[in-house]
Amino acid sequence: MIKLIIDTDPGIDDAMAIFYAAAAPDIELLGLTTIFGNVTTPIATRNALRLLEKAGLELPVAEGAHGPLSLPPFAPSSQVHGEEGFGDIPAEDPKGVSVPEDAADFLIRMAREHRGELVLCPIGPLTNIALAIQRDPEFVNNLKRMVIMGGSLDEGGNITPHAEANIYHDPHAADVVFAAGAKLLMVGLDVTHRILCTKADFASIGAQSPELGGMLQSMSEFYLRFYETVGKFDGCSLHDPAAVIACSHPELFEVKKLPIRVSCAGETSGATLEALKGSRGETSVCLAVKAEAVKALFMARLALLP
Ligand code: BDR
Ligand code: CA
Repeated sequence: MIKLIIDTDPGIDDAMAIFYAAAAPDIELLGLTTIFGNVTTPIATRNALRLLEKAGLELPVAEGAHGPLSLPPFAPSSQVHGEEGFGDIPAEDPKGVSVPEDAADFLIRMAREHRGELVLCPIGPLTNIALAIQRDPEFVNNLKRMVIMGGSLDEGGNITPHAEANIYHDPHAADVVFAAGAKLLMVGLDVTHRILCTKADFASIGAQSPELGGMLQSMSEFYLRFYETVGKFDGCSLHDPAAVIACSHPELFEVKKLPIRVSCAGETSGATLEALKGSRGETSVCLAVKAEAVKALFMARLALLP
């Protein structure tokens, strides 16, 4: 059983990842922290609270940074996730509210309280994580490991030809994280582009889990339509679920250990690049995946939900 916190910008595939974590018997979810990216940070907080309430989980949600460390704020990715983050599903206010601590302070405190046990899985831009690293020099040492959805080594980008969206939206923060010496697993486009879910797969999820799976099925329609607009007709990538699955099932991924740096300017801004050997700690970069096994796990666990 792993103790997990997800840092998230929900977001359609974020919702899939959070519901997967809620269903997985080998994951104890301790809370969520929120970040801009797919939506603004206040909308991410609202959506995170709503997902937890839907899943029947009373867990803390800590709101994070409203913009990148150094760059000016980006417009949310509404063409991918819809204005409100969940495709065509209308906005709905949750009953609960976020905790008074901000995301970075919450993460620092939780890492101290669960020293050596906490797995942190950021599935949005890395601003909150960089802030926690800057505020507490012990932060990464207190974590068991960090599993990031982001980056791309050989695959090229998805928001620019060079950059994956989560890293692109705050490259300075990402560089702080890759330099911090954490036990780091990078689940990037090299593997998430291999894990595809079709309309028929979501129909099966909705049939087996009418309430929560049905909500994911509705959201997926918007997401799949976006993929079709960019010429991808064989399904959408399970980006964020893949990272959460890698937290408890690293054996499904093949990695190469490399020091990673992030380009912070020019046309390659947001690219994750191999750094000079010895210049910083090594990241385990996922380069191959048992894609069918990841997808099977995703579908089997979502089927456990109401
Ligand atoms: C990442 O960007 C966001 O759109 C998704 O939620 C995922 O975290 C994929 O590049
Ligand atoms: Ca995300």
